[in-house]
Amino acid sequence: MFIPPSFIHELLNRVDIVDVIDPLVPLKKKGANYGACCPFHNEKTPSFTVSPTKQFYHCFGCGVHGNAINFLMEFSGLSFVDAVNDLAEQIGLQVPVQQKEVDSNRSRADSRNSFSMKEDDEQRVAAERPENLYEVMKLAAQYYRAQLKNSEKAIAYLKKRGLTGETAAHFAIGYAPDGWQNLKSVFNDYQSGAGADALKNAGLVIEGSAQKRYDRFRDRIIFPILSLKGMIVGFGGRILGQGDPKYLNSPETQLFAKGHELYNFFSARRAIRQTGRALVVEGYMDVVALHQHGIEYVVAALGTAITPFHIQKLLRQTDNVVFCFDGDNAGKKAAYRAMENSLPYLVDGKNLSFLFLPEGEDPDSYVRHVGKEAFEDFLENALPLSVFLFKSLLVHVDLQTDEGRAKLVRDAKPLLKQISAPALVLMLLKRLSELTNISQRELEEMLQIKRTVASRVRDKAPRPRLVTPVRWLIQILLYQPVYFKKLDRSLLANLGSLHEEERALKALIEISDKHPHIVDETSGSSLMVYFQDNPHRGLFETIESETLEWDNAIDLEAEFSGALMRIQEMQRKRRMAELHSKPLNSMTIEEKQELKRLAMS
Ligand code: UTP
Ligand code: MN
Repeated sequence: MFIPPSFIHELLNRVDIVDVIDPLVPLKKKGANYGACCPFHNEKTPSFTVSPTKQFYHCFGCGVHGNAINFLMEFSGLSFVDAVNDLAEQIGLQVPVQQKEVDSNRSRADSRNSFSMKEDDEQRVAAERPENLYEVMKLAAQYYRAQLKNSEKAIAYLKKRGLTGETAAHFAIGYAPDGWQNLKSVFNDYQSGAGADALKNAGLVIEGSAQKRYDRFRDRIIFPILSLKGMIVGFGGRILGQGDPKYLNSPETQLFAKGHELYNFFSARRAIRQTGRALVVEGYMDVVALHQHGIEYVVAALGTAITPFHIQKLLRQTDNVVFCFDGDNAGKKAAYRAMENSLPYLVDGKNLSFLFLPEGEDPDSYVRHVGKEAFEDFLENALPLSVFLFKSLLVHVDLQTDEGRAKLVRDAKPLLKQISAPALVLMLLKRLSELTNISQRELEEMLQIKRTVASRVRDKAPRPRLVTPVRWLIQILLYQPVYFKKLDRSLLANLGSLHEEERALKALIEISDKHPHIVDETSGSSLMVYFQDNPHRGLFETIESETLEWDNAIDLEAEFSGALMRIQEMQRKRRMAELHSKPLNSMTIEEKQELKRLAMS
């Protein structure tokens, strides 16, 4: 059975290897990468590294190397095809395979989904299978969207709030009409049976007294909530006018844990990576309005406080998180909770900040008043966590008295003790020392904070290691395949076959010629899928692992021309040596001239 590499490549671009590995082997952020103790050999210090930018893992201890598919194969013992199917299913991609396989695949898919539409009589367990719950959610979302198109009243409401049709479509906003059992028209199996239980388990249908079932969402605007994999896991439903509750959300289900999900995270992920920051707001409509105004790196917690899970998920995607709250007391309380919850996850180099809007505004109203540019300017007012921390504490103390300063130390202690980022702790201690007139050393003793040497601040981008120029070029090509396009092939014509690296470079270029779309990729994921059967695969894996510490600070353009220049230089010297090794009297005139030219250049 054959699955085209281009599909595998697309698949690997769409899944996040961190999300694949982390549930199985918990990962810790380590610079630009993630680390853990290697699951494939016994070790006490972590040398297993996962690159979120290039989507591969590598163990510096035992040398294992691969992508998300390889990981599932190695760790979970899946076959290649099963691993591919597993990942594809998670993100809703159809695996293209040969005819015979398609047929068997389809019949499997049919039996899986059939119960949810117009068939019944599935086994009870089917009502709890996540894939069935996902299917139920998807069908319900389609229904709600269709209903929005039919409802003048719902459309009028959204228009009144300034939403364009495009925005409504982008967020797949829908409408649950009034009435108790509308979903019956979509799911035949409504009152009993496996399908009905799936509806209940998905949180779409509520079982009342006397086992009577009815729709949870009635006469509400519907906002589908997507997981990081892009699957619908829940809904938020807003009442059209006044009423209580204003927003009704899906309950906690097998698919949906409010404290873990963030609204719009899935589609904001690209913008977050591109802009290097995430903006966290409180409401659905805040996200929608900001997006419509061109601010796309925005997510919202789902009517809960910001949890440690949210923080961890966010910090995995970006180094800069701005929490945006209303300027009122409730907003300040919420900000304080978010600050407390984030302390254990702070790493030097990550910036969390807190933004408070003017009284009476929320991000939705504010961006509509001032527009994108002024809103983004306003983001600059966000208070860094360290500033917000002391500002909050100082509200409750009087620094003029010894008692007040003592209280500040006492209040700060539980917060500071949760922070393990060494440079940040040091700076907060310094600030505390200034405020209280207690020396840093005394504070450290009082707070029982071990003096840690602040980790050396990385002031320079990690340069590619000193390696042969051919290896250097391979590093660059693997890291950023667009450079295949800029490569002057004639320059490589004289590469020898004595050196493995040179043979590997030639093979690499052949592969890029065979799969021309590779060069249009912008560093989305590792190219290793194309080398599965390549004799140089091991070398490519090692070379790829050498780029693990690279980041945007590297001037690739300069590295690229540097590598080419050194290759040219190497070839010049080689040719000179070759000519020198000939007895002078056997050299042709051309060769003598060439030698002269080479010696002068
Ligand atoms: P807000 O009351 O600030 O609403 O709640 P909002 O987002 O500004 O909504 P609009 O503009 O009136 O439509 C902020 C968030 O808190 C959650 C929702 O996620 C909401 O977006 N919430 C609020 C609930 O879950 N239930 C509620 O009853 C109210
Ligand atoms: Mn609002």
